[in-house]
Amino acid sequence: MTGQVVIVGSGHAGFQAAASLREEGFAGGITLVSADDGLPSQKPPLSKGFLQGKQTEESLLFRVPAWYETNAVTLRLGVRVVQIDPLGSQLKTETGDAIPYTHLILATGAANRPLPCPGADDVLYLRNLADARRIGARLEQARRVAIVGGGFIGLELAAVAAENRKTVTVVEAGSRLMERVLPPVLSGVFRRVHEQQGVQIRLNTVAQCIEKQNESYSIQLSDGQTVAADLVLAGIGVIPETNLAQAAGLVCDNGIVVNEYGQTSVSNIYAVGDCANQYNPFARRRLRLESVQNAVDQAKTAAKHLMGEAHPYRVVPWFWTHQYHLKLQMAGISAGYDQFSVAGNPETDTFSVYYYADGQLIAVDSLNRPGDHLKARKLLEAGSCLPAHSER
Ligand code: NAI
Repeated sequence: MTGQVVIVGSGHAGFQAAASLREEGFAGGITLVSADDGLPSQKPPLSKGFLQGKQTEESLLFRVPAWYETNAVTLRLGVRVVQIDPLGSQLKTETGDAIPYTHLILATGAANRPLPCPGADDVLYLRNLADARRIGARLEQARRVAIVGGGFIGLELAAVAAENRKTVTVVEAGSRLMERVLPPVLSGVFRRVHEQQGVQIRLNTVAQCIEKQNESYSIQLSDGQTVAADLVLAGIGVIPETNLAQAAGLVCDNGIVVNEYGQTSVSNIYAVGDCANQYNPFARRRLRLESVQNAVDQAKTAAKHLMGEAHPYRVVPWFWTHQYHLKLQMAGISAGYDQFSVAGNPETDTFSVYYYADGQLIAVDSLNRPGDHLKARKLLEAGSCLPAHSER
């Protein structure tokens, strides 16, 4: 098959779309356009190994520069797309260039939700390598670090800062940590371990105002308390990047709405990764998943479909987070469970939680039990069901 595929976005989804098209034998042109100016690279280590100084920038690259030449993938980095013209099948860039396509793949991802409080201009967010470099440099200088948001990013950053002997405070709006995805038993383990490492956790409170005094900050919280810090970081969720799609008339609803192959409401335009809203058979509803696994697998599905192979997207969703010695792996979507059982030993931070809905296994979270996680993915894939309260 020939033609000209243009991919917008160079994160996990965008890069994978290019790689998969070549693996599938696509013989036409591939152009990867991204506002990011660095070579496409991995994101998960940014809040872990990279900030800990254990991983170099080079080790984050998906592929060495020569790969793009060998595979005839044209990179247009540092280029912002400002318009899609679906009727004319072309894109327009910020500098006025037109980029024609036969097929377009939107892998525009998501943007950090900005902290909605006065004085938040100096707050740093983590999304890409440039952000990680900036945070790393400021972290070195800081003694007291305040982090708004007790989700994935906030807690991974808190762990890195605490391991660097910083005085760390986490401010979380919810009543427990990582409430969006975890049950109380797991939130409790993460809270205990963070507190053992000296992190102060402030729950049920939000930042109302940040005042700068010389080089330090005073954060007024809604519970009346104040946190003093030299560096303020925030990870309070993301907003899908749908502006281009919306302006082009593509159907959007919490992300760009796609079918089981990743096609948008315009058949030669696909959307993959964090920006795409798709029916997920394991969650039994439409949703937007913010994970590397989903970005990669949706990109593979779209590339295959573009090449004429129609395999509906059906991959067990999985996620992970590493904080201190805690390695949590999540398989399936636990939202909506009506029963759960625990296998292993919560006191030694080595256990798995099995979630059921109507007697059917729907998700498994495994803490420091990688074997359980791998088995869980297979069980969920096969649609199997473990007996409730099984101890293995
Ligand atoms: P998140 O949704 O995981 O956590 C955001 C947290 O901020 C929530 O606990 C929420 O209650 C809290 N919050 C919201 N507004 C607040 C406010 N005004 N004040 C205090 N707390 C507030 O989102 P997060 O951590 O920002 O991560 C962003 C994205 O990056 C997500 O897509 C996430 O999946 C991804 N990510 C994934 C990682 C992983 O899988 N290990 C690691 C890092 C990021």
